[in-house]
Amino acid sequence: MVGRRRRSIILPLLLPLLICLSSLSAAASPLSTSSRWIVDGSGRRVKLACANWVSHLEPVVAEGLSKQPLGAISARIASLGFNCVRLTWPLFLATNDSLASLTVRQSFQGLGLADAISGIQANNPDILDLSLIETFQAVVSSLGDNDVMVILDNHLTKPGWCCGYSDGNGFFGDQYFDPDLWIHGLTRMATLFRGVGNVVGMSLRNELRGARQNVKDWYKYMQRGAEAVHASNPDVLVILSGLSYDKDLSFLNLDRPLNLSFSGKLVFELHWYAFSDGSAWASGNPNRVCGQVVGNLNRLSFFLLQRWPLLVSEFGVDQRGTNANDNRYLSCFAGVAADLDFDWALWTLVGSYYLREGVVGMIEYYGALDENWAELRNSSLFQRFRALQPPLKGPGLSETTPHKVIFHPATGLCVLRKSLLEPMKLGPCTESEAWNYTPQKVLSLKATYFCIQAVEVGKPAKLGIICTGSNSKWDIISESKMHLSSNTSNGASVCLDVDSDNTIVTSSCKCLSRDSKCDPSSQWFKLVESTRSLCATRTFDLLNSILDLPRKGLVGFLSS
Ligand SMILES: *[C@@H]1O[C@H](CO)[C@@H](O)[C@H](O)[C@H]1NC(C)=O
Ligand SMILES: *[C@@H]1O[C@H](CO)[C@@H](O)[C@H](O)[C@H]1NC(C)=O
Ligand SMILES: *[C@@H]1O[C@H](CO)[C@@H](O)[C@H](O)[C@H]1NC(C)=O
Ligand SMILES: *[C@@H]1O[C@H](CO)[C@@H](O)[C@H](O)[C@H]1NC(C)=O
Repeated sequence: MVGRRRRSIILPLLLPLLICLSSLSAAASPLSTSSRWIVDGSGRRVKLACANWVSHLEPVVAEGLSKQPLGAISARIASLGFNCVRLTWPLFLATNDSLASLTVRQSFQGLGLADAISGIQANNPDILDLSLIETFQAVVSSLGDNDVMVILDNHLTKPGWCCGYSDGNGFFGDQYFDPDLWIHGLTRMATLFRGVGNVVGMSLRNELRGARQNVKDWYKYMQRGAEAVHASNPDVLVILSGLSYDKDLSFLNLDRPLNLSFSGKLVFELHWYAFSDGSAWASGNPNRVCGQVVGNLNRLSFFLLQRWPLLVSEFGVDQRGTNANDNRYLSCFAGVAADLDFDWALWTLVGSYYLREGVVGMIEYYGALDENWAELRNSSLFQRFRALQPPLKGPGLSETTPHKVIFHPATGLCVLRKSLLEPMKLGPCTESEAWNYTPQKVLSLKATYFCIQAVEVGKPAKLGIICTGSNSKWDIISESKMHLSSNTSNGASVCLDVDSDNTIVTSSCKCLSRDSKCDPSSQWFKLVESTRSLCATRTFDLLNSILDLPRKGLVGFLSS
C-alpha cells in the first residue's frame, strides 16, 4: 500500500478504455525462446494454448474429416480460443514413400473403412484423392489460413494408437525405432515445412519409454535429432520429451541441459494426466494428493521453468465429468497451470476416431468436440480450459505492475468486485481487479483502502476498510496450499468459498484431515501473479476517489 499513486479524476477515466482495448495480436513468426518464455520476433510472449489433433493412427489422416469440412474444423479451433495445434504424425509418413503416396481413399479402403470414405466424400471431397502427405500439408495449410500455429509432433513410428510400454515404438533401438530412420524422417519433415510460417515447432518424439530407456542414449539421440531439425528448418522450436512417458525430465541440468550448436529454440515438454498417478486422486484426500503430486512435478519437470519453456503438451480429462479421478485432478491442474502460466496442449480436440485400437468410430471422451465434431462435448467444462488460454505474465505483456488475481480452479473464474454495493462474485479473470497479498496476509484491492474480510460462517465475505483485525488476515493452508483461511471476529475459523450463485462466502474449511471422500475444490483459490492489463481496477480506483473515502486517516490501517 505504501507508494500507491493517486491520479487526477480525468486520467483514470481514460486509462481503462485504452488498456482494455489492447488485446493480443497475432504472433509474428518465427518464434524463439527467452529464458522460460516463448516469444515472437518482437520479443513479446506467445503463450501456446494448443489442442492435440491426431493424425498418427492407421489411416494416417487427421481425424474428423469424415465428420466436418477441414476449413470448418480449423475455424472452430481458432474460435475456441486455441492459437495452436499439436498435430501428431507417424514417422513412416515421412520415411515410407509408398505409404505417404497412398491416397486417402486407398488408405481407408485398405482398412475396410467404407463409412469414413463416404463421410470424406460428403465433407471433404477435395481430399479424397490427395495423397496422405498432401492431406497432412492441407491440414497445416488450413490451420494457417485461420492463424493457428502448428507443432508437428512425431508421435510414434508405425501408424497406430500410442503408447504401450513394449509396443516397439518406445525408445531408440526398439523394433520400430531405428535412430537413423528417425533422424531421416525428422529431417524430411522439417525440410518439407521449411518456410511454412504457421509451423512454429517440432516435438521430436512423443513419450519415450520402455525397457530400453536410459539417460545416456537420450542425450546421444535427442542432441542428434535436435541438430538435424535445426539444420533443416532453423525457424522451428525444437521440443524435447522426457523419459517415462514424458513424465521425467529430472535428469536435465538447468544450466546446460544439452550440448547444442544453437540457442533460443529449445523447449521441453511434459505430460500430466490424472492417471499418471494411477487412481491416487479418487482414492486419496484431494488436498494431500494435489500437494504430493505437485511436489513430485516440481522435482521431475517444473524446476526447468526457472530457465526454460515447458510445454505441458498433453493433459486432459473425461469431459463427461463422470470420472472422479479426473475431476479432482483437473482442479489441481488448473490451479497450477494458472500459477505457473505454462504453455499447454489439451488432449484432445478429437471427438471420435476413424479407427482406434480396432474399434471403428471410437468416441473420444477426452475430446473437446462431440462424436460428430459439431459441438463442444461439454461447454461448461470447456470454459475451464478457456480460462487458461490467455497469458497472465511474460515479456511484452507488462501493461501493469505485478499484482495478484484470485483464481478459482474449479470454475476457471476469478474473484471480482465490480461494485461497492454487492458482494464479491466469481467472474472472468480477464475482468479481475488487481489484488495485493501483503506480508501481513491482508488481501487488498490495489490502490484502494479495501480488503477482504470474513464476516460469518455461511455469509458473504465483504470488502472492509479497517484491515488490521483477525478477520482481514488470510492464511494459505492445507497440503494443496489452495485454501484461504481466516477467523471471523467472533473467533470461528473459516475458509473462503463459493456458493451456488458464485458469490464469495466463507464456510468451514473442508478436507483438511485425511478424509478421502470430501471434495474441497469449491474452497480452492490460487493467488496468481499477473501483469496482464486490467480493465476494472482503474474504474474502481476512480470510484474510490469520487467517493473520496478518507484520504489520509485510513492509510495507516492499510499499510501497518
Ligand atoms: C510402407 O508402407 C506400405 C503401405 O502402407 C507398407 O505396405 C509397407 O510395409 C511399408 N514399408 C515399411 C518398410 O514399413
Ligand atoms: C559439444 O558438442 C561439440 C560439437 O558439437 C563438441 O565439440 C563438444 O565436445 C561437446 N561437448 C560436450 C561437453 O559434450
Ligand atoms: C460437464 O462436466 C461437468 C463436470 O465438470 C458435469 O457435471 C456435467 O454433467 C458435464 N456435462 C455434460 C453435458 O457432459
Ligand atoms: C485463526 O485462529 C487460530 C486459533 O487462534 C490461529 O491459529 C490462526 O492463525 C488464525 N488465523 C489467522 C489467519 O489469523
